[in-house]
Amino acid sequence: MAELGAAPVAVRDLEELRAFAESFAAALSPGDIWLLRGNLGAGKTTLVREVCKALGVPAARVVSPTFTLVQEYEGGRLPVVHIDLYRVDPGQSLDTLFLEEVFQRSDCAVFVEWPDVALGLIPPGASELVIEPGPDPTARLLIRRSLNPSGAAG
Ligand SMILES: Nc1ncnc2c1ncn2[C@@H]1O[C@H](COP(=O)(O)OP(=O)(O)O)[C@@H](O)[C@H]1O
Ligand SMILES: [Mg+2]
Repeated sequence: MAELGAAPVAVRDLEELRAFAESFAAALSPGDIWLLRGNLGAGKTTLVREVCKALGVPAARVVSPTFTLVQEYEGGRLPVVHIDLYRVDPGQSLDTLFLEEVFQRSDCAVFVEWPDVALGLIPPGASELVIEPGPDPTARLLIRRSLNPSGAAG
């Protein structure tokens, strides 16, 4: 499990984000589930990409899951499953069985952008990483916390 309860980390630019991603990736374990929160453009996809690179996934493989809800990256220290539910409307039926299977996997780390439409499926051990805007356009504040069993931030 990556460091929980750690103090928020301020990153000023992509280089500092990369450094954060490296230490985050080093602490990542199979079975970890991270819900990624933050506005459009906050840097959620960028963070997953940098974590994958830090894990040793060949860079060319790491793309944004634009047309697929789910993308799996192999070739690194552990597989990463990247889920982006941005295009799923709250009223739309989700492939819940597929998502439940992903959340039960113990061989990979899972990242979920826009997790709210699937909150009922998220296991209680999941964690949350919030990306907030920093004082200038390239700065970001990264906040990590655990979730309680209801799926609400704790
Ligand atoms: N410190 C930073 N951390 C993350 N992304 C940053 C940072 N500074 C600038 N960016 C840029 O912001 C954009 C974030 O886009 P993206 O990762 O797709 O956001 P999201 O997935 O949250 O919608 C990218 O173009 C990225 O290069
Ligand atoms: Mg994104």
